[in-house]
Amino acid sequence: FHLYLDSADLAELKTCLPHPVVHGVTTNPTLLKRAGVGRGDVPGLLKRCLDLGARQVQAQVYSSDVDGMLEDAKVLLSHFDRGQLVVKIPATRQGLDAGARLIAEGVPVTWTAVYAPEQAHFAAQLGAAYAAPYLGRLEDAGVDGLGLIAQMQSLVAQRPSPRTRLLVASIRSREAYLSLLALGVGAITIPPRLFAELLDHPATLAAERGFLADAGDLT
Ligand code: E4P
Repeated sequence: FHLYLDSADLAELKTCLPHPVVHGVTTNPTLLKRAGVGRGDVPGLLKRCLDLGARQVQAQVYSSDVDGMLEDAKVLLSHFDRGQLVVKIPATRQGLDAGARLIAEGVPVTWTAVYAPEQAHFAAQLGAAYAAPYLGRLEDAGVDGLGLIAQMQSLVAQRPSPRTRLLVASIRSREAYLSLLALGVGAITIPPRLFAELLDHPATLAAERGFLADAGDLT
């Protein structure tokens, strides 16, 4: 299971990294804009994340045409060792084409903004590392997000030698996270604030306070 942090805010990421349960960091242009990070700063930001213990980082292309996507990917990849950077590409018609070419060159690819089971199936068929459906946004649209993600999971898992993980994004609550674990998805990306909520159980903290108080009273 791969747990990612979904953020481009280094200060926020530093509150969570390094951490042994975190596999990596995911970003996208919206997160970059929110964090005030320019395109030229992305490699530096993600290299810092690797220095902070992330095993893989993910950055998204900025273009919508095949040549532009491939050029964006080439520039991003030039800053990293093989396998460190996963290239995120929207699961559009052009995105499938560009991603398939990168996979043929051995580049790990995430097809993102996946909203339908057939898109996850295409990703698995083409050998993507990940297919990223957006749970919260599916639910915003009034559809049964968990039901759709369950369908996607059975499609990626049923392949003869499954190598594509669902990387579920747009996670807004602990309940959503737990429901996804129950579906057996291979990866989830969560905002750092939710990670803190998962780590710091109030009852565990209260129990620890009790132990510390009692430890202080021991002879
Ligand atoms: C995924 O790449 C997005 O960054 C993110 O998960 C979307 O989350 P939101 O729908 O809660 O904004």
